[in-house]
Amino acid sequence: NRTHGPERPLAHLTPSVGWMNDPNGLFYDNETSTYHTYYQYKPNDTAPGVPLYWGHASSEDLITWDHHGVALEPKDEQSGAFSGSIVVDYNNTSGFFDDSILPGQRIVALYTEHSNISESQFAAYSLNGGYSFEYYEQNPVLDINSTQFRDPKVFWHEETERWIMVLALSQQYKLQIYSSKNLTSWEFQSNFSHHGLLGYQYECPGLAKVPIVHESPSNVTLHGLNSTTNATAQTNATSVDHKWVMILSINPGALTGGSFNQYFIGDFDGKTFTAQDSATRALDHGKDFYAFQTYSDVPNNDVLGIAWASNWDYGVNVPAVDYRSSMSLVRNLTLRPYNPNPETTEFTLYSEPLVNYTHLHTNQSIHKTSLLLDSEETVSYSLGKDPQGLLEFSLEWKVNATAVTSRHDFADLSLYFRGAEDDDEYLRLGYELNAAAFFLDRGNTEVDFVSENPFFNNKVTQNIETYKIAEDGLPILKVRGIIDRNLIELFFNDGSSTSTNLFFFSEENYIGAVDISSGVDDVYTILDFKVKQMSL
Ligand code: FRU
Repeated sequence: NRTHGPERPLAHLTPSVGWMNDPNGLFYDNETSTYHTYYQYKPNDTAPGVPLYWGHASSEDLITWDHHGVALEPKDEQSGAFSGSIVVDYNNTSGFFDDSILPGQRIVALYTEHSNISESQFAAYSLNGGYSFEYYEQNPVLDINSTQFRDPKVFWHEETERWIMVLALSQQYKLQIYSSKNLTSWEFQSNFSHHGLLGYQYECPGLAKVPIVHESPSNVTLHGLNSTTNATAQTNATSVDHKWVMILSINPGALTGGSFNQYFIGDFDGKTFTAQDSATRALDHGKDFYAFQTYSDVPNNDVLGIAWASNWDYGVNVPAVDYRSSMSLVRNLTLRPYNPNPETTEFTLYSEPLVNYTHLHTNQSIHKTSLLLDSEETVSYSLGKDPQGLLEFSLEWKVNATAVTSRHDFADLSLYFRGAEDDDEYLRLGYELNAAAFFLDRGNTEVDFVSENPFFNNKVTQNIETYKIAEDGLPILKVRGIIDRNLIELFFNDGSSTSTNLFFFSEENYIGAVDISSGVDDVYTILDFKVKQMSL
């Protein structure tokens, strides 16, 4: 019963009104240097249901978005234009285009037309760069007479000169791979089934060729924003090779509850994906990161993507007034050796956020080095006069012990992000030495919401496997975070693992201060702590 919703995140995509879930049809228009993002959309409601549409927004900086309303419609009121993807058909393999359409704007969408009695794959194409669509007259392009067959992700496979489609036979725990020369007739190639956590259903798969990078991550800049900084040119120059990564969403059944995204590293020959092992790896360890999809046609073949920053366990119930949900920030994916050993054949998927703060100004900037905390001490930093802004922080510290004695119950180093109006409301991010794990505690955020939503677990934890070791053999840990109104995205140790989580403070209460404290004496040395508070 809020009168106004949680204020909109500043740097994350939200729908102007209505309900949003999965990202769809992501592509980069090289003709206009614009990123296009579509999404599952119910414009007149803040809850999902049929009829369900594709909404559309575009951006040059991935922070500020222009909204273009409905892009794709279902065929009737009882149906949904469910999730799918877009490709740029440069060579007009589909025959949908003539010479008047620039090659980089030959946009073809492949998506699931859903009703209670069927899920089949439809094609639609745009003659104006993705702002409106024509429906292919001979739809469906793929129909196997199933009610649980959805979410096609299509891409061009250079090596075999074919379009590849990966989609989910949801309740058979099967991903299917098809190929095509023209985007309208599809030939079955293989199944990839019963991998990872099965959950209740498989959804929103994806397959991407991810570069292996042997250097430590550098900050990635943005394509198209500034012609002199060509995105990840450096990253690419050092990438010697690649692996294929299969992305898979399951709902429900995540270890942390509800929906989540997993991935498998392996090889793909144009027909079959072979995973190197059957381990389940989380694309993000938080509660709110689902239906991740990559952008098509990004320069340098960089692998950029976004997820729906919510969870089907409670996404429909989170505080809202006229819109509900947001996307994550756009992330750049790379594979890096699991150990800093050039010979290793094991890789970890790294994610770095693509953030460009050109449109934000800094209100407050704090930078501290060399701080040794004893257990009585809380160091508190006020975040300035406009607590409604976006916070970016980073913390790097050394752990001066391998474990602490039993006289300590909880050997943590914690950051408390406290409300400006009511500082009993806070979000706590900590590291616990004996567990060698991070935790995020959202149990002291808005009481009513937390108590009414048992699935809004108080604590989310994250073990850390990849980190730096100092010369004396003790670990150095790092976390970078972006807090944008009701969403926290965490990148541990340069992005070797991440955690994305929603949280809600009471109306009019925004983060106004950050406290650092530790439950143990002299165990943690803070090497570097930065916080920046920014607003539009
Ligand atoms: C995943 C999903 C997809 C489906 C869409 C419907 O969140 O269930 O499988 O296409 O959402 O909105």
